[in-house]
Amino acid sequence: MFVDTHAHLTDSAFDEDRDEVIKFSQECMVSKIITSGFNIPSSFDAIALANKFDGVYASIGVYPENIYEVGDDFESKFSSLAKEKKVVAFGEIGLQYTPDMPAKDKQIQIFLRQLVLADKLGLPVVIHCRDAYGDLLALLKENKNLLNNGGTMHCYGGSIEMAQMLIRLGLHISVGGVSTFKNAQRLKEVIKEIPLQHLLLETDCPYLTPHPFRGKRNSPAFIPTIAQNLADIKGITVDEVAKVTTQNAEEVFKLC
Ligand code: NI
Repeated sequence: MFVDTHAHLTDSAFDEDRDEVIKFSQECMVSKIITSGFNIPSSFDAIALANKFDGVYASIGVYPENIYEVGDDFESKFSSLAKEKKVVAFGEIGLQYTPDMPAKDKQIQIFLRQLVLADKLGLPVVIHCRDAYGDLLALLKENKNLLNNGGTMHCYGGSIEMAQMLIRLGLHISVGGVSTFKNAQRLKEVIKEIPLQHLLLETDCPYLTPHPFRGKRNSPAFIPTIAQNLADIKGITVDEVAKVTTQNAEEVFKLC
C-alpha cells in the first residue's frame, strides 16, 4: 500500500466526483491520503472530508498566499480545529518569494507563528518553499527547537546539500509528480542521493500530474506512478518504495 502525504482533495477540481476519486485511489492501493488546507475554511473542509472517509486525514494551516485573509487570531481558530482527531499535521505553511506573493517579512512572521503553534499542538509540519530556500533554512536552524515533531518538505525542489541539512533538522523530503518530468534530471539526481528512509510520496493533486499523464487532473491514484519512477531512479523495486515510504509516513504523521 501507499500513502499520499499531500493532496488537495477539497479543491473544486474534485467537486463532481470527489467520493469516487477517493474510492478509486484506495482501489489503486493508495490506502491513506492526507488532504491539506491552505487557509481556515479549507482546513475546516479538509477535516470534514477526513471525518467522512476511513484512510483520509487532514492537515491544517495557512499557505503564504493566504496569510492576509486569516486575521490576527488564527492561533485560537487552528487550536480548536486541531482538537479533531483526524488532524495529523500542520501545513501547508512556508515561504514563497515570487512576485505575486505577500511581503517577505510578513511571510516570515506568519510562518514563524505557525511553527510555534504546530509545536505547541504537537503536530508535524508540512513546509512549502519556492525561491526562498536560503531564508527558510536560516529560519529553521534558528528555531530547530520548534521541529521536535518532525515534518516534511513538500514537493522538494532544492539541492542535495539543502536536503541533507533539512534531514538533519528532523524533516522528511517529499517526492511528487515533478520528479517524473523529463526535464527534472537535476531533481532525479538529488532524489537518488537521499536515503529512502527520509523520503515520502505525495501528489499535491489536482496540480503537478506525473508524466506520462501531464495535462490530466492529478489525483492520489497516480501515487503508484510516482513510486515506480522513484524505484527506477533508485534501482530498487516499487514494493520496497511502497513499504519504506508507507512506514515513514505512518511514523511522521502517526497514522493508524
Ligand atoms: Ni499543496
